[in-house]
Amino acid sequence: MTANIYLPSIATVREVRPETPDTSTYVVSFDDPQLRESFAYEPGQFAELSIFGVGECPIGIASSPTREGLLEFCVRAVGTVTDALHDLEVGDKLGVRGPLGNSWPTTEIEGKDLLFIGGGIGLPPLRSLIQYVLDNRDRYGAVQIVYGARSPQDLVYKEELKEWEDLPDVDFHVTVDAGDDTWDGAVGFVPPFLKDINPSPTNKVAFTCGPPIMIKLVVEALEEMGYADADIITTLEMKMKCGVGKCGRCNIGDKYICRDGPVFSFEELRSIPGALEV
Ligand SMILES: Cc1cc2nc3c(=O)[nH]c(=O)nc-3n(C[C@H](O)[C@H](O)[C@H](O)COP(=O)(O)OP(=O)(O)OC[C@H]3O[C@@H](n4cnc5c(N)ncnc54)[C@H](O)[C@@H]3O)c2cc1C
Ligand code: FES
Repeated sequence: MTANIYLPSIATVREVRPETPDTSTYVVSFDDPQLRESFAYEPGQFAELSIFGVGECPIGIASSPTREGLLEFCVRAVGTVTDALHDLEVGDKLGVRGPLGNSWPTTEIEGKDLLFIGGGIGLPPLRSLIQYVLDNRDRYGAVQIVYGARSPQDLVYKEELKEWEDLPDVDFHVTVDAGDDTWDGAVGFVPPFLKDINPSPTNKVAFTCGPPIMIKLVVEALEEMGYADADIITTLEMKMKCGVGKCGRCNIGDKYICRDGPVFSFEELRSIPGALEV
């Protein structure tokens, strides 16, 4: 049985984990046991989550397919549907339509060193690939993670960040824009922090996701360090409706973000008129 990407499948909230004051992780599972078993997706894909009587919105799948059974979504409450998602409690129902879109490359990057640069709630889409890489460790080279948020409270996955920090084969760096009494780590914005770390571009692919201004400055920093546009990969967020390339709501140039993306290299983005303004 494969998932129907045109119709929401009913799922139940199994766990709610508050991450920051406005962001929570929702762990969900499909009600249909066959679908629960057969639902297949790739890191970087997204789903349309629906609240009945309210609407639906696109949310990246934040867990890796290598972590079987449950799906995780990390949602910031910013409006009608995401506020309604934040009202969900364990046992409540929602609709999940997906998996949608393309995915992070996983085979093309085998043997490469990997650099992940996340900002704020840009970490969850990257985390899907980070978990995938950690679960297939022998297929990939060195792993570096650089993460930043506005404040210590705005860091998502606080427990998992500590686990990554303790892994001997992960080079982990975290910073916040402004510290507080609880924080004795680095303070400063992600792009200059990245420049100080100065990760070598040799045999490396960089993945980045975060606020548009962070991505812009991170890409400039990577280019200064010698990274090629083809080796800088991001995932785009844009207003969507159908999520399956039919309604024309999410096009840039001749591409639909929902169908041809949301994952693109900067080499691709530079060839699509208007893409870098998204
Ligand atoms: C592929 C993809 C993956 C995404 N993954 C996540 C995720 O993992 N976690 C998460 O919290 N959010 C994610 N988003 C953003 C999320 O879809 C929007 O926040 C959501 O659609 C807002 O809907 P709403 O009804 O709550 O807000 P609305 O009431 O519709 O709008 C509230 C505000 O959000 C803006 N907005 C509406 N839709 C979008 C959108 N698609 N992208 C950006 N801003 C929007 C509006 O302009 C407005 O300022 C993703 C978006 C895409 C396209
Ligand atoms: S959201 Fe309908 S074409 Fe992309």
